[in-house]
Amino acid sequence: MKIFLDTGSLQEIESFVALGIVDGVTTNPSLMAKEKGNPREITRRICQIVKGPVSAEVIATDVDGMIREGRELAAIDPHVVIKLPFGKAGVRACATLSAEKIPVNMTLIFSPTQALLAAKVGAAYVSPFIGRLDDIATEGMNLIEEIVDIFQNYAFTTEIIVASVRHPVHVVQAARLGADICTCPPAVVEAMFKHPLTDIGLERFLKDWEKAQADGQDRV
Ligand code: G3P
Repeated sequence: MKIFLDTGSLQEIESFVALGIVDGVTTNPSLMAKEKGNPREITRRICQIVKGPVSAEVIATDVDGMIREGRELAAIDPHVVIKLPFGKAGVRACATLSAEKIPVNMTLIFSPTQALLAAKVGAAYVSPFIGRLDDIATEGMNLIEEIVDIFQNYAFTTEIIVASVRHPVHVVQAARLGADICTCPPAVVEAMFKHPLTDIGLERFLKDWEKAQADGQDRV
């Protein structure tokens, strides 16, 4: 499963990319609003750092506006993926941009029918928001399971980006279901590294080694 970072922070992206575990980045207007600087310039810098798919979302809500903005964003860098909000306007804009070979990530997906419609108009990615479904007492992962089944039945090439991820258990569940991508806030990726037994284990190895040294045993 590919791991994308769900952030607009260049600092965080740089530090995780250096670990070799980041396959792409997703942003949205809320994430970009947290960052200082011109969003298009930030998008360009992210593409240079990641060298993988980088989703940049349009602000327009009408078809022509989405297409125009999508083309402008796509011109920033070949790695840019145009994020469009799901709806009739988004579906129409997706068909046009996809026909121009501009990859689209259809976002704000909350049902399998929305994912199916996005796939039919050539979306390169769909982003079902699982955390926000969990928030309203609906099992978000069930949606991922349904979309995985549907895309497999018809051999759609649209990739599933599990989005609105809140904790590492979501990542494990997404991987077990065979989702293509999980886009994670940096804090979730940070948490994926941690296990107290790893820290305790390393501490014990080093203590035992030091004790052997102190006891005068011959060690390299
Ligand atoms: O990728 C979409 C994601 O950023 C939404 O996450 O936590 O705002 O529901 P959240």
